[in-house]
Amino acid sequence: MSLSESMVLDALGTVNDPELNQDLVSLGMVERAVVDGSQVHIKVNLTTPACPMKAEIERDVKTAVGALPGVDTIHLEFGSNVRGAEQPSIPGVKNVVAVGSGKGGVGKSTVAANIAASLALEGASVGLLDADIYGPSQAKMFSVEGKRLMADDEKNIIPLRNHGVKIISVANLVEDGQALTWRGPILHGTLTQMLQQTVWGELDYLIVDLPPGTGDVQLSLTQLANVTGAVLVTTPQEMSMVVVRRAHTMLRKTHVPVLGLIENMAWYALPGGERDYIFGEGVGSTWAEQERIPVLGQIPISRSVRESGDAGTPIVISDPDTEQAQALRSAARTLAGQISIQSLNTLPVL
Ligand SMILES: Nc1ncnc2c1ncn2[C@@H]1O[C@H](COP(=O)(O)OP(=O)(O)OP(=O)(O)O)[C@@H](O)[C@H]1O
Ligand SMILES: [Mg+2]
Repeated sequence: MSLSESMVLDALGTVNDPELNQDLVSLGMVERAVVDGSQVHIKVNLTTPACPMKAEIERDVKTAVGALPGVDTIHLEFGSNVRGAEQPSIPGVKNVVAVGSGKGGVGKSTVAANIAASLALEGASVGLLDADIYGPSQAKMFSVEGKRLMADDEKNIIPLRNHGVKIISVANLVEDGQALTWRGPILHGTLTQMLQQTVWGELDYLIVDLPPGTGDVQLSLTQLANVTGAVLVTTPQEMSMVVVRRAHTMLRKTHVPVLGLIENMAWYALPGGERDYIFGEGVGSTWAEQERIPVLGQIPISRSVRESGDAGTPIVISDPDTEQAQALRSAARTLAGQISIQSLNTLPVL
């Protein structure tokens, strides 16, 4: 029997996406399976360019197709097709991902900035919305401070852009140094404008950096957008965990899925290589495991994370080889995988 395309497709039908637990053909991930003599050309579209399972899928495809009689060479190409809501609540935006925690100062904004930059580095189209109306920090972290936002002919806001990410922050809407004293309705209106009257274009992921607390902004966001899920950020400190548990309860009440937990400032690396668990050890991850929440990553506390944030270039770009940058990039990939799982649960299979 000579090698045929249907044989290749049958072989691909035995390869599962390890996270999604379905085979590549049923998931509509095989764009091309062409046989040319003993050569096979395959293109697989992953559900995210940041796929944490890519190496495993590559190995399994090569094993399954390589076992077919008459196969000499496999040319395997990867693309991506991020899934999103069929009728997105924000036009063109496939996934809205909130980064929050409840507690102030645990590194939500730092994590949000690095996740956004990491996903962009993987090739995804990414937006970042700084929803911390009273204490915006992303304009500084992305070096777009002082730049004024412009509007297009239809009076929609054109987001700023840096490090491969489209970004909008309230800091760019008001005069520098001006204190904001907006109450509920104005706050809601501003958030509406930033979410829905911004020219985002096509986005795979819109990361929303939330202010601390479980207040108006969090509620407004869930009313204004169909949030794919939330990332909880915490330090391993019991005091921080109390607030995370509260945030978790709020998410449950507002039906926002929890995509995972990131334990920030998890340890300090001492010069000899030992770890000093300044804020406690693994308290967040232990809780997450009990709650069946995926632990996306543990990020050490380090001077370079703080300095890169202050300097306006997230550490995943400024110092990509450091342990802390690698931990953040890995967390972003794991998050992208969780978003794919979440989307698959809520979307009809292609
Ligand atoms: N892993 C880390 N190592 C060192 N410094 C960090 C780390 N994560 C965050 N920081 C620093 O801690 C401070 C608080 O971080 P950040 O502003 O991201 O927290 P936040 O939770 O967003 O705060 P807020 O509640 O005010 O919005 C910043 O100075 C930041 O640079
Ligand atoms: Mg913040």
